[in-house]
Amino acid sequence: MMFKIGIVGAGAIGKEIARAIDDGTVPARLVALWDRKVDEAEEFAASLAQKPKVLPLEDLVKECNIVVEAASQAAVREVAITALSNSKSVMIMSVGALSDKELLEQIKALAREHHCSIYVPSGAIGGLDAVKSASIKHVECVTITTRKPARGLKGAPFVVRNNIDLDKFTVPTEIFSGPAAIAIKEFPANVNVAASLSLVGIGFEKTVVKVVVDPTITRNVHEIHVKGDFGDFHAKIENVPSATNPRTSYLAALSAIATLKQVCEPLKIGT
Ligand SMILES: NC(=O)c1ccc[n+]([C@@H]2O[C@H](COP(=O)([O-])OP(=O)(O)OC[C@H]3O[C@@H](n4cnc5c(N)ncnc54)[C@H](O)[C@@H]3O)[C@@H](O)[C@H]2O)c1
Repeated sequence: MMFKIGIVGAGAIGKEIARAIDDGTVPARLVALWDRKVDEAEEFAASLAQKPKVLPLEDLVKECNIVVEAASQAAVREVAITALSNSKSVMIMSVGALSDKELLEQIKALAREHHCSIYVPSGAIGGLDAVKSASIKHVECVTITTRKPARGLKGAPFVVRNNIDLDKFTVPTEIFSGPAAIAIKEFPANVNVAASLSLVGIGFEKTVVKVVVDPTITRNVHEIHVKGDFGDFHAKIENVPSATNPRTSYLAALSAIATLKQVCEPLKIGT
């Protein structure tokens, strides 16, 4: 069966995924796209060989069997519920939205009822496979340390509320340490990596997030440490930003493409 994919949100990630389907990297058909910037979506769709239709969510869902959300946290509820209620699987990029336990339980129940799946790619971090395996048995702690240059942290609610002058730091300095549940609200730009890690591991209350302002780096660096019955695990990733959206790591789009490839191909490697 040739999978038919529809993408909601044709920004940095959505376009990268669309191109990967269009050029055959993902063995599927791109049947439709939707973005609230309709004119830009039309122009982009016309540039692709597969000529996907530009359709609002309700119509897009009817045309495909996998719906990709690459829009915003605010869009997740509507996209996931519409897709799953119509028995279509959904892939969610704005994972931070799933820190809402009620929404998470609602969409899981819908997926069960309609025999479809909710896919959450690893996104901008590595090592989720190991955390997932480790979590089968007891895991003592999961910590993610995010290091960013000052410009990557500007405007975060925690920074604004505490009047932190990020430019004054001349050496790497930890400015926050706390549970993912709080970090997600204080540093919404880190929400997706902390959310994926919490979902796959020991949850939003127990996962510890540390934020370091680092004047010595230009890339966003995430380090993960997990300790449990399995032993110890350390992973470090230095992310190159996406060419069109500096807030998004290029790896996040590649991870979405790899997930779709895995869904569409018979050989599934990795936990
Ligand atoms: N999982 C991860 O690791 C990870 C990493 C980076 C970004 N993200 C998330 O993925 C999402 C997409 O990221 P991006 O870099 O492509 O963002 P982007 O801003 O480049 O593109 C988002 C697009 O979605 C459209 N959009 C927003 N809300 C919409 C709605 N309700 N209906 C239709 N279109 C809508 C916007 O017009 C825009 O074109 C964001 O929520 C981002 O936080 C996840």
